[in-house]
Amino acid sequence: MILDSIAHDVGDFLHDHPGGAEVLLSKIGKDATLAFNGGVQRHSKAARNLAALMRVAVVKGAAERRKSLRYKERKPSSPKA
Ligand code: HEM
Repeated sequence: MILDSIAHDVGDFLHDHPGGAEVLLSKIGKDATLAFNGGVQRHSKAARNLAALMRVAVVKGAAERRKSLRYKERKPSSPKA
């Protein structure tokens, strides 16, 4: 499962997930960033920390995408950037 361009191995967590195994299984190999951040459930900081323990890989191109996101965030306040 991908969260914020990072692949997470949720295999050992399926049956401990408070929201159930089904929703996690539906996101295997997919991007679950929106669902995790409010699309399905707005997860707590504790859930976020738990997810961080399941990180296995950075998805290629993530750094470039993060840079372009930061650029977009800055854009309104710095028109010449
Ligand atoms: C590594 C990924 C995930 C972790 C570590 C995780 C962890 C948790 C935790 C700790 C809770 C309890 C509430 C809270 O602390 O926010 C929770 C609830 C929930 N999660 Fe996740 N979650 C993950 C991914 C997902 C995804 C991808 C979905 C939906 C597609 C989802 C759906 C839900 C739902 C619906 C609940 C509410 C359960 C209830 O209160 O009845 N979770 N999750």
